[in-house]
Amino acid sequence: MKDSILTLLKNNKDYLSGQKIAGELRITRNAVHKRINILRSQGYNIISMRSYGYKLVDDLNCIDFAAVGKSLTGHLLGGNIIHYNTIGSTNDEAYRLAQSGGGEGAVVISDRQTKGRGRMGREWVSASSENLYFSVILKPKMLPSFAPRVTVMSAIAVAQAIMEVTGLKPGIKWPNDIYIGGKKVCGILTQMKSESDAIDFIITGIGVNVNSQPDDFPKELIAAATTLRHECGAKISKRSLFEKIILNLEKMYIILTKEGFEKIRGEWNSYCLLLNRVVTVKTIADEVTGVA
Ligand code: BTN
Repeated sequence: MKDSILTLLKNNKDYLSGQKIAGELRITRNAVHKRINILRSQGYNIISMRSYGYKLVDDLNCIDFAAVGKSLTGHLLGGNIIHYNTIGSTNDEAYRLAQSGGGEGAVVISDRQTKGRGRMGREWVSASSENLYFSVILKPKMLPSFAPRVTVMSAIAVAQAIMEVTGLKPGIKWPNDIYIGGKKVCGILTQMKSESDAIDFIITGIGVNVNSQPDDFPKELIAAATTLRHECGAKISKRSLFEKIILNLEKMYIILTKEGFEKIRGEWNSYCLLLNRVVTVKTIADEVTGVA
């Protein structure tokens, strides 16, 4: 039955009303709605518009935010998604939002960024709407020294999502760069506002190179960066990846805040690229060399 709905949608370039689908397949509109949601959970990008119905969008870069918002309703993260076509930086906007009372779990996402920010004051190239750029507001009731663990758990959540969606196993280069085949595919920028004894909020900003091509990057990045599409040889559904990242982030966050880092250490070790390698840690004061 799911396949019949799919066939109907595939054969129709325009919107198809729930009533029409129900009539053709002799099922109720409620059954149509349920089956559409199953197809969506399988990664089909089916957008809906009131009074028009459903439409299958081939473009894997297109995210139906109304549908994602609905499927994440009731979750700790992602129930409130604020989408922009273009913005300076989603981290800056999420920070502003959190400062003015924006609640835990709100997500700011943009198709492009004009001032995407990376770690160490670097730029995060964000010109392609084929990639993901978003930031999540977290408000853990913890000491500020807890923040680095949020950075680590975010990297695990993204790595898991990439593996679920593409089947490829990425590695994490400490603290939170995600690599496939020796090239960077995702960067995470964590920012915190805190008092001396408590975190006000943490912004976790995630940038994933999804469907652009490495050639689209500025020349100086081509040797160091890659995209999921390039590594898989096929386009990825941005919606599936985004939803999986949010769900994994929530799962990791709940474990981390309720049970502690020990519960996710094994997962971290399974992705960590530096484990058992000789590394040199440079601090402000000195350098320490040892086995990670
Ligand atoms: C890095 O590896 O240097 C971190 C890159 C973080 C990029 C993301 S994209 C979404 C969010 N908004 C920003 O301005 N930066 C982060």
